[in-house]
Amino acid sequence: MYLKRLELENFRNYEKQEINLINGINLFLGRNAQGKTNIIEALYVCSFGKSYRTTKDNELIMFNKPYCKINLDYLKGDINSNTSFYIDNLNRKQIKNNEVKVKKIADYVGEIPVVIFSPESLDIVKGSPAKRRNFVDMICCQLSKSYIICHHEYMKCFKMKNTMLKQDVIDEGYIEVLHEKMSGYIKKIVETRLKVIEKIAQYAKPIQKKLTNGAEDIVLNYKSDFIGMNENEIKKYLDDHFYIDKIRKSCVKGIQRDDIEILVDSNEVAVYGSQGQKRTSLLTLKLANFELLKDVKGENPILLLDDIMSELDGVRTNFLLEYIENYQSIITTTEDTFVKDIQNIKYFNVESGNVKE
Ligand SMILES: Nc1ncnc2c1ncn2[C@@H]1O[C@H](COP(=O)(O)OP(=O)(O)OP(=O)(O)O)[C@@H](O)[C@H]1O
Ligand SMILES: [Mg+2]
Repeated sequence: MYLKRLELENFRNYEKQEINLINGINLFLGRNAQGKTNIIEALYVCSFGKSYRTTKDNELIMFNKPYCKINLDYLKGDINSNTSFYIDNLNRKQIKNNEVKVKKIADYVGEIPVVIFSPESLDIVKGSPAKRRNFVDMICCQLSKSYIICHHEYMKCFKMKNTMLKQDVIDEGYIEVLHEKMSGYIKKIVETRLKVIEKIAQYAKPIQKKLTNGAEDIVLNYKSDFIGMNENEIKKYLDDHFYIDKIRKSCVKGIQRDDIEILVDSNEVAVYGSQGQKRTSLLTLKLANFELLKDVKGENPILLLDDIMSELDGVRTNFLLEYIENYQSIITTTEDTFVKDIQNIKYFNVESGNVKE
């Protein structure tokens, strides 16, 4: 698949913009604060139905405008397809895929598979467990509709449980019902996360070897209290640990505590890795992410590479560019010196919310 044409209306600093993309490298060049990342964000919104930069949809609307629209034409297989996104100041939101309203976002996510790589991605290898969970969750969401639903339902229960734990009198019968529901969701979430992490690990190994001339070995370990448990065992585990929740007045045990340990040569990269090892591991994980989506979906995901130059050195950037040469990518940068030898590239200039070919 590939993206053909992006149209923006009142989106961030774009009042009206049309961009014709090629099935190759699309390089957006511009100084700081001109609107490069906004393009990446718009494409991400078309893929996930929400931004990765904000949880408030209406921040996407241009200042002092009543609504914003994104329209994306793309080719899927050999079928011309289209997605549109609309949000207004009253928080009315609508996503349409091929002119049909998307009723549940779970029915839509995965339609346009993307891999995003931005300076913030480095948090996966050096930040908190939440960043690693998010990395894995976003892949799970693109691969499994039921994962999105289970995760959403689990979080609802989690919030209800936390609200109850803050009350003076706790309704234990209500907690019992929540635990029962949560155990079903936990089972599904843990199974999917485990499968995805194992797959990512498989793809990652040869990539890391290649990136380091055979020197480094990367291993991923999923850390969760619930691996291998059935629903009854999960329920019992939640019940048995409820006394801790009561003391802390918040839900302590659950999949919101899971982590993914990333080991390079048996050492946790987040703790012991050098800057270079962190960057190499991140690049490996992102390419493994790409390979996994490509294989499961049977089509090429789109690479969104936002300002990666600031995070990767020349060697790693060249490796990445060689890797992606045959796929569609949207790349933003403030300098174009690194892409001199690449074929199949289209340049765009970004200046104050205007894109010119
Ligand atoms: N809702 C909005 N309405 C109007 N302008 C906005 C809105 N949200 C963000 N902007 C503006 O968009 C501009 C460009 O943002 P963007 O993040 O795309 O820049 P960039 O080109 O990626 O810069 P950098 O190279 O520094 O990352 C910013 O100056 C910001 O103030
Ligand atoms: Mg930017």
